[in-house]
Amino acid sequence: MIWYPYQQMKTMGAPYEIIDASGVYLHTKDRALIDSVSSWWSVIHGYKHPELTQAILDQAGRFSHVMLGGLTHEPVQRLSQKLEEFLPGDLNYCFFSDSGSVAVEVALKMALQYYMNRGDSQRTMILALEHAYHGDTFKTMEAGDDEDYHFVLKAYGPSPHVVHIPTEADALERAFLQYHERLNCLLVEPLLQGAGGMRMYDRSFLQRARELCDQYGVLLVFDEVATGFGRTGNRFVADLVLPDILVLGKALTGGYIGHAATVANRRVFEGFYDDDPNHALMHGPTFMGNALACSVALKSIELFEREDYMAKIRRIEAITRREMEGFSHPKVREVRIMGGCVCVEVQDSADLKGYQQFAYERGVFSRPFLNCMYAMVPYVISEAELVKVLETMKAWFQR
Ligand SMILES: Cc1ncc(COP(=O)(O)O)c(C=O)c1O
Repeated sequence: MIWYPYQQMKTMGAPYEIIDASGVYLHTKDRALIDSVSSWWSVIHGYKHPELTQAILDQAGRFSHVMLGGLTHEPVQRLSQKLEEFLPGDLNYCFFSDSGSVAVEVALKMALQYYMNRGDSQRTMILALEHAYHGDTFKTMEAGDDEDYHFVLKAYGPSPHVVHIPTEADALERAFLQYHERLNCLLVEPLLQGAGGMRMYDRSFLQRARELCDQYGVLLVFDEVATGFGRTGNRFVADLVLPDILVLGKALTGGYIGHAATVANRRVFEGFYDDDPNHALMHGPTFMGNALACSVALKSIELFEREDYMAKIRRIEAITRREMEGFSHPKVREVRIMGGCVCVEVQDSADLKGYQQFAYERGVFSRPFLNCMYAMVPYVISEAELVKVLETMKAWFQR
């Protein structure tokens, strides 16, 4: 039996069965559905993209996987080199893993050990944001702040190793004043907090965070698993404010295969690079640097650059703003738009009950959560398809 995610197995409805997928469409036996959530925000080029599929087939004809312990190969070398060029600043040291959660775990381990390697074992604390989501593994749940997902952690009581603050400058200043000697990092989903409720905040918070991290010698970690590759309207938020460690996942492979990267700058890398074997980073997921994942990631980045995806995202944002302009309803608390993300936050999560089926019947796959109805569409969507997604969202309130 399949144990489905985030579902009470006893009461859940039958999931829609997908038998084919192509472009922005998921196909069931009797319907074509626009995937308005890009399979959890990852399938930026749409489904069955011929060049991505070919990249995987070509690599599978050579080998699909070899371990990175004691071995290396061209796809992983080329991908790390490409990321070195593609990412801003000196974010040049790529540690690969198989999922976003694990890549965040790696970032947190790096930040902790960076200070331990310097003989500083006091800096055990993480500064994180209220409503943060960084994954479902244990340390990422602890760094996250979402009781809806992670209430199981209550069994342990409050963590002495994580402090959560709102995205407000005053709270940031106070936290640094109070905890700076014990902090190893500030971990954030920059500009857009996804699973915690599609919350958007200003870049000035990140600019001040960078200054305070510099002032107090704390590492700044950007979890761009969701925001990376254009979702906020920036290639990476790291293009605006440079972190010390950047985490990528989801769209890294165009959503074809789970893979992720924790990318460190020179300062962090050099904190591990010496003659002492105990200063090595002791981590090594079996499928890190998987050759199929690296090959498809390379092709995905090539498409992103060659087909000017940033222009596609600007177009998506402009159409979204145009279509949502003036939209309001007593049940709607706020409409938020940033780059390729639109969220309609309702007053009460009960107001979204039945919306998924409503959208399905109109040819749109949607998956509202908490009190958020949202769309994060594949960037290859046409204007007519995007308008249909947005019309469907609005129509729910106009019944
Ligand atoms: C910001 C952020 N970090 C980490 C993760 C976890 O990634 P994964 O589901 O690949 O483990 C997610 C997933 O939604 C995410 O949105």
